[in-house]
Amino acid sequence: TASPEVQKAIEDVFTKLQGASDCTSLLKKHLTKDVVAKNKSKKTRLGATLLDVIQSGGENLDSGVGIYAPDAESYTLFSDLFNPVIEEYHNGFKATDTQPGMDLGEKNIGELADLDPEGKFIVSTRIRCGRSLQGYPFNPCLSETNYKMMETRMKEIFNTITDPELKGTYYPLTGMNDETKNKLIADHFLFKEGDRFLKAANANRYWPTGRGIFHNEKKTFLVWVNEEDHLRIISMQNGGNVGEVLKRLITGLNLVAAKAPFARHPRLGWLTFCPTNLGTTVRASVHIKLPKISAKDDFKKICSDMKLQIRGIHGEHSESKEGIYDISNKQRLGLTEYQAVRQMYDGVKKLIELEKAAS
Ligand code: ADP
Ligand code: ARG
Ligand code: MG
Repeated sequence: TASPEVQKAIEDVFTKLQGASDCTSLLKKHLTKDVVAKNKSKKTRLGATLLDVIQSGGENLDSGVGIYAPDAESYTLFSDLFNPVIEEYHNGFKATDTQPGMDLGEKNIGELADLDPEGKFIVSTRIRCGRSLQGYPFNPCLSETNYKMMETRMKEIFNTITDPELKGTYYPLTGMNDETKNKLIADHFLFKEGDRFLKAANANRYWPTGRGIFHNEKKTFLVWVNEEDHLRIISMQNGGNVGEVLKRLITGLNLVAAKAPFARHPRLGWLTFCPTNLGTTVRASVHIKLPKISAKDDFKKICSDMKLQIRGIHGEHSESKEGIYDISNKQRLGLTEYQAVRQMYDGVKKLIELEKAAS
């Protein structure tokens, strides 16, 4: 069972959150006295405790969610906390609900006409999914050797990609010069470093060991290795052609999936480190300029009513710049991959109509 020090630290997080009047995280809302009492002594087989789950939200009071799963077992062992957070984040996905089977929409791509054929609003479109390699826990439980082994395996897999459009090179973060790295980050291709939410969750250990990025020559197909998730598989390009982006993602994902077995949960779908990414793991986004409607007071509500999430120009926890927003589907669990893309597609289509009609 968890040590007295760990149990005390869990109670301290609880007390801190209760006293933080401006904290609005789902962690604060759902970490009740009962949940603490029932779960503070538990340990997963790999030794993870409730403290590992809650410490990021305990340290970062501005978290929207605030919890991560150190290993797959945590989702069941600490379900008293995960289930209500998952239900609230993923649009009412209940403890008795099950993620539907995978449907990436390969048969529906024809329905996804370019959202912005005149190129007036959408700067770029991106769809990513996350995957965890079977047999490895998530970041806080990975050893330095694990990181190295995973990276080595992924390099082998990347080398098998011969598709002329998708083939590319793996660039490890270890040894990458700052200029190259900072440009990749600024150009939206590479994850940022030192995310404080991940750091507090113990997810940045041994950095940059085992971390890196694969991409094709055009940087339209990319795979992140060992950032927040073991893998983030990404398709992106300029403009609003969601169909082309999805088609490339499906091709690339299938190539990687053919070589690497991924961890899937019978109820929660594809497993990820953060509960917000479970299920489909799909975040489909556009970088879009909507100067008129984004200046109005009801912009946030219009987006949240359409189940859209607004991020800034450099992604999560960044600000919008030059009127460009990152608009994506919020829900990833309890719907199919295609429906997740569709949530973004239909919502953004409507936003563009509203922008055109606005004065
Ligand atoms: P993710 O959920 O994939 O981790 P983040 O919010 O962490 O997304 O952002 C990661 C990077 O992806 C950032 O540089 C962000 O600007 C970039 N990004 C996200 N959506 C788009 C898009 N539609 N076009 C270009 N870059 C994007
Ligand atoms: N833990 C952070 C928060 O609660 C991020 C949550 C979702 N984002 C993510 N990258 N997993 O704000
Ligand atoms: Mg991210």
